[in-house]
Amino acid sequence: MTVSTLSRCPIDHSQFSQPSGQTGPTGCPISHGAAGFDPFADGYQQDPPEYVRWAREQEPVFYSPQLGYWVVTRFDDIKAIFRDNLTFSPSIALEKITPTSDEANAVLAGYGFALNRTLVNEDEPAHMPRRRALMEPFTPEALKHHEPMVRQLAREYVDRFINDGRADLVDQMLWEVPLTVAMHFLGVPADDMDTLREYSIAHTVNTWGRPKAEEQVAVAHAVGNFWQHAGRILDKMRAAPDTEGWMQYGIRKQKELPEVVTDSYLHSMMMAGLVAAHETTANATANAVKLLLQHPKVWQEICTDPSLIPNAVEECLRHNGSVAAWRRLATQDVVIGGQAIPAGSKLLIVTSSANHDEQHFVDADLFDIHRDNASDHLTFGYGSHQCMGKNLARMEMQIFLEEFTRRLPHMQLAEQNFSYVPNTSFRGPEHLWVQWDASRNPECSNPSLLGEQQPVRIGESSQGGVSRSMLVESTELIAQDVLRVRLKAPDGRDLPRWTPGSHIDLQCGDTGISRQYSLCGDPQVADTYEIAVLREEQSRGGSAWVHGALQAGMKVQMRGPRNHFKLDEGAQQLILVAGGIGITPIAAMAARAQALGIPYEIHYSCSQRERMALLKSLQEAHGERLHVYIAQEGLRADYPRLLATAKTGAQIYACGPQRMLDGLAQASLHWPEDSLRVEHFSSTLGALDPSQEHGFEVELRDSGITLQVRNNETLLDALRSANIDVECDCREGLCGSCEVQVIEGDIDHRDMVLTRAERAACTKMMSCCSRARTQESRIVLAL
Ligand code: HEM
Ligand code: FES
Repeated sequence: MTVSTLSRCPIDHSQFSQPSGQTGPTGCPISHGAAGFDPFADGYQQDPPEYVRWAREQEPVFYSPQLGYWVVTRFDDIKAIFRDNLTFSPSIALEKITPTSDEANAVLAGYGFALNRTLVNEDEPAHMPRRRALMEPFTPEALKHHEPMVRQLAREYVDRFINDGRADLVDQMLWEVPLTVAMHFLGVPADDMDTLREYSIAHTVNTWGRPKAEEQVAVAHAVGNFWQHAGRILDKMRAAPDTEGWMQYGIRKQKELPEVVTDSYLHSMMMAGLVAAHETTANATANAVKLLLQHPKVWQEICTDPSLIPNAVEECLRHNGSVAAWRRLATQDVVIGGQAIPAGSKLLIVTSSANHDEQHFVDADLFDIHRDNASDHLTFGYGSHQCMGKNLARMEMQIFLEEFTRRLPHMQLAEQNFSYVPNTSFRGPEHLWVQWDASRNPECSNPSLLGEQQPVRIGESSQGGVSRSMLVESTELIAQDVLRVRLKAPDGRDLPRWTPGSHIDLQCGDTGISRQYSLCGDPQVADTYEIAVLREEQSRGGSAWVHGALQAGMKVQMRGPRNHFKLDEGAQQLILVAGGIGITPIAAMAARAQALGIPYEIHYSCSQRERMALLKSLQEAHGERLHVYIAQEGLRADYPRLLATAKTGAQIYACGPQRMLDGLAQASLHWPEDSLRVEHFSSTLGALDPSQEHGFEVELRDSGITLQVRNNETLLDALRSANIDVECDCREGLCGSCEVQVIEGDIDHRDMVLTRAERAACTKMMSCCSRARTQESRIVLAL
């Protein structure tokens, strides 16, 4: 996304095939899809990302005349919007999406209803000082205290129905337990549960729903009562401010910082906080259980191996989270995803659609609890307003799933139609009927299982620890020192789809070594991954292990696939260059170029013919487009000659030894910026040498935190210790997954990912390896 001022929309609207005849606020034509968008219709309620698939794929940002909002559907655009809370103000996050009647407004006024700014809808500069002042009860240390209470509640509620063989999990547990946890967390005494339950639904409908005219008055009475009730609870708390709870913590902070923690904030948060903490988590768990039971193999997997639960929670939040969309207000003219949007526009950012964006998540619609970037989802928002309660929610969901999988592994979904409270944002089934054979409850024959428990993981799960178990189907020497390995899922199920340039991380038995290998088979073969591994003389153990120890029939662990070397399918011409075993991603790219009809040529060099993997099949498939250079036969690639004439619109993709890549970089200096895209095999980066390094300071602008990075740790280590979720993969500056946005700073870039142009622009850095250039240079990050 670019944020810039533009007076005219740069989009060529003729590309949208079905104009509706209407025009939007910018004078642009509105497509048929945009005109028909109705987030209160059943299609959106049942499956929001599917409902806006057409937009995500064809018209990622569109104006909805029915809603009066601009709708944004892609991951990168939405993340960029979250990142910039000045251009995109959160002030409308709790505004009524459907304006209510005068009569309903008069009812609300009669109750003195004055819900105002809390945190989630507060602008800067007021928001960040308040957030920081109120953060402490959310630290992992503080959250640990709630774990026994959540466990006990989960146990008690399951006790109530475990012998019945059938339950509506929403009515009988998932609504009340998160409500009780929310009340404990906020510090509310656990009475009035039924009243609060009714009130909080009314608040959701009032804020994010479209109540009919005749319902609006009833909703207004419930919301007004909720408001007054919240006020009374707050008065009780003020009378005993030393009791435990986040609200009491706020009351105490108000004494210290009265301008930061205001009366209006406390009253509004008392009401909005319950919904923030309760409904979101109740719905998220109901969605998760439904999704898991709809995938019985996955359910069985987590029943057998509960250590998979933390990442299953993350994948459920990604695939079917409880917040489907959020809102922002554009405070200046901007361009989002190529679409000009005037200042003052309201945006509906469909986070559930971002979570299914193929550009960010491999095989995005697949429900894959082994996905190692599942926690990149935007269900908790992102940046300065990212959900403060995310780790409490994660903890609750883990404990609920643990309780269900241990005590009711034979649970199944009952036949039913799912209904949702019609609204844009909060999403979960109103009822979730499940059934099981109570005579087979495992605790009847094994009461000791009640004593078992999984350690809860506070924080996101997928920090490098998520892997999938694979079966080695076959190994075959396909050239001298090159072993082809075919991997399948142990139960033979289809694997996540992959695209050319993707790699997997193979864990080499119990050596502690993990190595990246490009996928090189046919992406159409859905149940098999294929890699080709060269035995390296200088091997640090990875290829030696694959050649020496790996055998058909063995089980191995792998992560991925990931693609940091994506083929630009819009390129006008492709020059594909491979050195030695670097042919693996290049072969997959050539096949794709051929299928797409993009003109391409392959330049494949190697020291000896016998060492050339895939040579025969490449010759057969690509004929004259394949150019082969064999040093032993006196033929070497001449890159300066090959790249003598710069070609606009052509892309060079290269994979091979560093010397070859350096040669290509040199030979392509006169080509347009970023024409050359490379995949590295090895990094020259060594381990961090503290005697050579210096510490430095880093400011996280979005989070309002300043950190010190010591000379014996990486920026990534420091970020993670501060509980900031940053992904990582290779930790060697090779893969690009730990990229962070730089706002200011003199950076010593040590990665192999960024291009010359990107380094010069200095707007991003790889946090696993790059550092501040000097001890004095301070880095400011958009995190
Ligand atoms: C903010 C989702 C649970 C407290 C948010 C936002 C979302 C969200 C989308 C807005 C983020 C943004 O604007 O960038 C969720 C989901 C939950 C959940 C999906 C459960 C699965 C909780 C819980 C609590 C909580 C359990 C409290 C105990 C908050 C607070 C904010 C917030 C205080 C405002 C943060 C700020 O603006 O600085 N949440 N939430 N949430 N959430 Fe949650
Ligand atoms: Fe791979 Fe940093 S983790 S580049």
